[in-house]
Amino acid sequence: MRTQVGIVGAGPAGLLLSHLLHQRGVESVVVDLQTRETIEQTIRAGILEQGTVDLLRQTGLGDRMMRDGFVHHGITLAFSGGLHRINLYELTGGRAVMVYAQHEVLIDLIAKRLADDGDIRFGVSNTQVEGVDTDQPTIRFIHNDQPETLECDFVVGADGSRTYTRYLIPEGEVRTDFFRQYPFAWFGILADAPPSSDELIYAHSERGFVLISTRSPSVQRLYFQCDPETDVDDWSHDRIWEEFQARLSPSGVTPKTGRIFKKDVLQFRSFVCEPMQYGRLYLAGDAAHTVPPTGAKGLNLAAADVHVLDRALGAYYETKDAGLLDSYTETALRRVWRGQWFSFWMTSMLHRFTEATDFDLRRQIAELELVTSSPSAAKNLADNYAGLPFE
Ligand code: PHB
Repeated sequence: MRTQVGIVGAGPAGLLLSHLLHQRGVESVVVDLQTRETIEQTIRAGILEQGTVDLLRQTGLGDRMMRDGFVHHGITLAFSGGLHRINLYELTGGRAVMVYAQHEVLIDLIAKRLADDGDIRFGVSNTQVEGVDTDQPTIRFIHNDQPETLECDFVVGADGSRTYTRYLIPEGEVRTDFFRQYPFAWFGILADAPPSSDELIYAHSERGFVLISTRSPSVQRLYFQCDPETDVDDWSHDRIWEEFQARLSPSGVTPKTGRIFKKDVLQFRSFVCEPMQYGRLYLAGDAAHTVPPTGAKGLNLAAADVHVLDRALGAYYETKDAGLLDSYTETALRRVWRGQWFSFWMTSMLHRFTEATDFDLRRQIAELELVTSSPSAAKNLADNYAGLPFE
């Protein structure tokens, strides 16, 4: 088999890239270890920046999102016994975010690729990429018990945070990994309940952070900061709701309770690998970088990477000019590091650190007061949360 761009990973980065390339007449094949069902059902993030929404709409992927998603013009920060709204829409001059779950984006992408005769191989095994430092890299894999070899002009590693392709870039001499751990994680639930708020609430409390998010008028997504070693089985439904109430009641928020049908613990990491390319291999999305979820940036950084990569590959096939490909890492990393800063900043402003003293809590409150009372500080938060326009 031969294709122009071989893509490892059918997540947001891989599928969106395949879709964008198709629209400019560049062929690709996507392979993934997971089945289509698993990909379409795995619960992940839920917030799309304005730039991601625009890109999906402009490329024919907006129908279900515009019908079933929810546009939010603001977010609320809760601290010191009060609620403080950040008006994203006004502060950014008309930008907003969309609440639309990542797996719904994936369902739309897969449907569109298949309708356009796209080639996606689900449930492959033994993926092996060879020759990324030659002009003809290959992806070998087993699909339906048949060994296959895919010859490509380029390989894109979009295989998520448990990436295999990142390690094809030799560590040390070429690749440097930048890494930060956090002493906490998020305990997440999905519950059959009405929304507790019209918009997301990011809550600072002495017992630790809480996020109230949503999936639909009848399904809510909530998180509380927890120890990374937390076992979800130690938390009964009553204990979970009591913890939310204890953290939210000082701000006057009462979460609407209901049957909890999913509990999970999200680990917190900040990670960047540099460079994001090596020979004919290009990394995109979580394969190259991970952010803690506080800034809701993960999926959006993946979309921004492939927006850059699509244009670079497009220029190469149109004019044989590799200039944009050569500068892919530099272009993509500017936004990646901005996202790292924002996610780290939101995380450190809102969470309780293990060693935090009363000094640290008061310093956090001072910072939260600044971003909710100074128009320029609020605009800084709003611009970064709603997302800068794609380059
Ligand atoms: C979510 O709904 O899963 C969500 C929303 C906002 C975040 C993180 C996660 O910052």
